[in-house]
Amino acid sequence: MELVGSRRIHTTMQSKLRSPRLLLLSLLLLLFLYSTTTLLRRPTSPPPCDLFSGRWIHNPKPPNPLYDETCPFHRNSWNCLRNKRENMGAINSWRWAPDSCELSRVDPTRFLRKMRGKRIGFVGDSLNENFVVALMCVLRVGDESGVKWKKKRAWRGGYFPEFDVTVGYHRAVLLAKYKSQPRPSGEADEDGVKGTYRVDVDVPADEWINVTSFYDVLIFNSGHWWGYDKFPKETPLVFYREGKPIHPPLDILQGFEVVVQHMVSYIQRHVPAKTLKFWRLQSPRHFYGGDWNQNGSCLLDKPLDKDQLDLWFDPRNNGVNKEARMFNQIIKNELRTTEIKLLDLTHLSEYRADAHPAIWLGKQDAVAIWGQDCMHWCLPGVPDTWVDILAELILSNTKTE
Ligand SMILES: *[C@@H]1O[C@H](CO)[C@@H](O)[C@H](O)[C@H]1NC(C)=O
Ligand SMILES: *[C@@H]1O[C@H](CO)[C@@H](O)[C@H](O)[C@H]1NC(C)=O
Repeated sequence: MELVGSRRIHTTMQSKLRSPRLLLLSLLLLLFLYSTTTLLRRPTSPPPCDLFSGRWIHNPKPPNPLYDETCPFHRNSWNCLRNKRENMGAINSWRWAPDSCELSRVDPTRFLRKMRGKRIGFVGDSLNENFVVALMCVLRVGDESGVKWKKKRAWRGGYFPEFDVTVGYHRAVLLAKYKSQPRPSGEADEDGVKGTYRVDVDVPADEWINVTSFYDVLIFNSGHWWGYDKFPKETPLVFYREGKPIHPPLDILQGFEVVVQHMVSYIQRHVPAKTLKFWRLQSPRHFYGGDWNQNGSCLLDKPLDKDQLDLWFDPRNNGVNKEARMFNQIIKNELRTTEIKLLDLTHLSEYRADAHPAIWLGKQDAVAIWGQDCMHWCLPGVPDTWVDILAELILSNTKTE
């Protein structure tokens, strides 16, 4: 019975296959299977684009920046529109064009929607603060009910209630814990040392040590404070490990390297694996004709040309602003074998000698006292491009609904 039955099915199928319509359908099915398997063999997305190498393209009719001087998150000295900085139109008429793909301007509403319920934390010095202010001003365009937020030891931050998104900045200029130790007598010793700053290279600063699990995304930086401006020889940094002074004593660059080493190791061990971690590289300064305290200035009206960059920034040329690439080298070295992603914003920023607050600081006498600001950036301005890049990388590295 069985044998007869299966033969009958066999012959029925054969006769059906002979019908032209079925033959066509089978061919189509085969074609479909073939095409899907070939498609699957190809990578599902194009290779990731290097957003950090490219050039600035001038746009004579640029779109308006996303925000203006009324953004409640501004810090006065970077609010260049309010401070009536000249050339703000020109500063915002350049678009960063990566070599092998397009960088689109962040869509604040889309970004907030995709980040619903998430928290983004910045840890580091004022160049990360400059970054976070830009991010918050951009995001407020997508949620006008965004308000200041300052919890969990954050120095500043924003909360965007429509999407339950939190952005925080934790000020920790050296990342490691440090404190001033004045000489008990209050007088300088025979070497002119009035006191020291003790840096515990293996202890994260109080401002962020216990908050890392609060965030879904973390962006670290440090480097801009590691110099003799902030820590002159009268009040030098002295490095400690496991509570004891390191012998022989380290100089500033060596100290920086050891601190980065320990902070990276702490992040690897203590920050949850699911947290997306970035380390942003140095923001270059553009002091021309002298350092900040030697009447150095940055009254330039357009970006530098590519062939000027090495002259300004290659340490071999020993220019005023050479430190950014030196610090980057150390950071890149220490991060090489980690999961922490490099946010290499240095090169694109090196071009933009035209985009600092310079003499427009919003305060009388500020220039006479502090010199020009050729270090931080006008907002709106270059940090908005940092935001575009960060947003792109966060979204491409985050599982969203
Ligand atoms: C961080 O948490 C540890 C463990 O709970 C605690 O001992 C320490 O005091 C905390 N440090 C700060 C700065 O909050
Ligand atoms: C800076 O400029 C002022 C005013 O022109 C001048 O008196 C001073 O000597 C200059 N300082 C340096 C370090 O060049």
